[in-house]
Amino acid sequence: MIKQSIITIATLGLFTVTASAYDTKGCVSCHGANFETAKVFGSESRAVKDMTSEEIVVALTAYKDGTHKGSKAMMMKGQVAPMSEEDIKTVADALGKKAEEKK
Ligand code: HEC
Repeated sequence: MIKQSIITIATLGLFTVTASAYDTKGCVSCHGANFETAKVFGSESRAVKDMTSEEIVVALTAYKDGTHKGSKAMMMKGQVAPMSEEDIKTVADALGKKAEEKK
């Protein structure tokens, strides 16, 4: 019984961490409720809603490894730091869908 509770708690904990890493709620304060904002904070950024999943993966990966050349790249470096490669892919798939559907 006790063992099962511990497993349940551990599983819940894992789920919370995973869910928050994929959660894009924190992104909208800068990118707009529907990721429609371009030139966020005076940068050269595109509206994320118009980007394909692949473009989003490329951008987020570059922010993460520090190779992105955007003038405000530092702001995104902090955002993607806690994200795993898998998280980036999940977020990119979810956000990039709309642009791909328009094709
Ligand atoms: C603190 C404000 C802020 C938050 C929060 C934020 N971003 Fe950004 N984002 C920016 C800025 C500023 C840029 C442009 C940086 C540059 O100069 O390259 C950017 C750029 C991007 C780009 C690249 C756009 C392009 O044209 O290539 C993507 C994709 C992106 N953000 C996705 C996200 C996602 C997904 C999240 C949430 C996990 C997020 N952002 C959270 C400020 C933010």
